[in-house]
Amino acid sequence: MPARILTNAELEKLVETSDAWITTRTGIKERRIAAEDEFTSDLAAKAALKAMANGGVTAEQVDLIIVATVTPDMLFPSTACLVQEKIGARRAAAFDLEAACSGFIYGLEVGQQFIMSRTYDTVLVIGAEKLSSIVDWTDRNTCVLFGDGAGAAILQSRAKAHGLLTACMGADGSKGSLLCVPGGGSRCPATADSVARRLHYLRMEGKETFKNAVQAMYAAAREALRRCALDISQITCVIPHQANRRIIEAVGERLEVKPEQLFVNLERYGNTSAASVAIALDEAVAAGRFKRGDLILLIVFGAGFTWGAAVIEW
Ligand SMILES: CC(C)(COP(=O)(O)OP(=O)(O)OC[C@H]1O[C@@H](n2cnc3c(N)ncnc32)[C@H](O)[C@@H]1OP(=O)(O)O)[C@@H](O)C(=O)NCCC(=O)NCCS
Repeated sequence: MPARILTNAELEKLVETSDAWITTRTGIKERRIAAEDEFTSDLAAKAALKAMANGGVTAEQVDLIIVATVTPDMLFPSTACLVQEKIGARRAAAFDLEAACSGFIYGLEVGQQFIMSRTYDTVLVIGAEKLSSIVDWTDRNTCVLFGDGAGAAILQSRAKAHGLLTACMGADGSKGSLLCVPGGGSRCPATADSVARRLHYLRMEGKETFKNAVQAMYAAAREALRRCALDISQITCVIPHQANRRIIEAVGERLEVKPEQLFVNLERYGNTSAASVAIALDEAVAAGRFKRGDLILLIVFGAGFTWGAAVIEW
């Protein structure tokens, strides 16, 4: 996580909002903001090196780097290539994956396919964002929600069948305009006019996004559990995308998740998009929320719309 903390009290000075409104509507108290000279690839490389140290994996061993992000350092080269250089993984192939807040689970599923097909042995999956670079700091509807950060995981083949038991993904492109950055791509390249019209900032229809998130996260979680023939009561820890406490509670209620099963850290980080569940997974491990052999359920939702869920045997 970047060092700089931006509190709700500081946001009160930027836009017409209040700590009470943000807390009751979202559960967020503070978020991290990357330094001006700290980019998505820097956050991603730090998370990657930490995961490699934890897993005892050297840079030489990494076969593939997947970076899930909507805030790449540049349109190209990919942030994954920049990370490859920063961590010295000279043998690795590298590409970015764009599935917005669902990116980490999309990345796990894609990485797993390379391992199951025996193409690669060691895949580094990173979720990393500098959302502060695309947030409109004059728009109180969105600027209170997002933050910067990165998380990483290493996938390797193992003889014993533990690890990622299933990952499912979904998308509905008809809802793309509800959460997007309209400018900067081939449809609307940067011009003085596009900048003046603030088209390079994130835009969101909050209420519609909220409703879709609850429905899609619930359905994705049910599908992942069904594929593994598991009941929610068998899951030790549920780690949902950390977008809004009310979304998490609504999904948790429908799934009949008990409060002690649920891991939430969004009060400290807000929504870090593709990094969100990766960071939460790391913190849940550090907090001793589960032990080897326990079952974990990850659930995500994001722009696209995209969604997904994964069951992991730790
Ligand atoms: C954004 C969100 C928190 C707004 O909560 P909500 O309960 O839907 O609130 P509403 O849209 O009804 O807004 C209520 C009022 O608060 C105002 N408001 C919005 N942001 C505000 C803020 N930061 N501070 C104070 N007031 C705010 C609105 O302008 C609106 O005022 P109005 O009634 O005068 O028009 C909520 O819709 C949400 O979380 N949506 C999903 C966002 C998300 O997770 N996106 C990423 C998915 S990956």
